[in-house]
Amino acid sequence: MLAQTFYVSKSTFAPHNVADKDILHQADQNNPKLELTGCLFRASNLYAQILEGPVQSIETMMRAIRLDARHYDILEWPMTETSERAFPEWSMGYAKKEIADAELAAFGHAQPRQISEIAEVLRNVFEAGYKT
Ligand SMILES: Cc1cc2nc3c(=O)[nH]c(=O)nc-3n(C[C@H](O)[C@H](O)[C@H](O)COP(=O)(O)O)c2cc1C
Repeated sequence: MLAQTFYVSKSTFAPHNVADKDILHQADQNNPKLELTGCLFRASNLYAQILEGPVQSIETMMRAIRLDARHYDILEWPMTETSERAFPEWSMGYAKKEIADAELAAFGHAQPRQISEIAEVLRNVFEAGYKT
């Protein structure tokens, strides 16, 4: 079964730190094997990530991500079933240009939104020039 999950978290390190490069490297190595795609957004002190793929793969990856000391205060949306991927073409996307904190934080503060709706917003952000 194909599913999506989403979370927003606070980063332990400043952007462009080696920690970000390591995360991207790990994702490039692991995500294709687990059939995971998605996008990772990085603001000045926040991360936001859509992760999609087989349920089992998402569960495995989220267990590691929840324990990762490079971020904290993870606000996680419940995994939902999806019929198609919002980010099929990336094993992992990374916002080259920094997206505003407020833009990411809003996902956590606003009325709870469906992951599919958030994915749509984030896809537009990527397509507007954030894609690496
Ligand atoms: C914000 C954030 C996003 C992450 N996203 C991924 C990811 O998509 N894929 C991945 O393999 N690791 C990701 N990680 C790293 C994992 O928590 C974990 O360190 C890594 O999967 C371990 O990989 P390894 O067993 O190959 O060393 C992320 C970490 C953080 C802090």
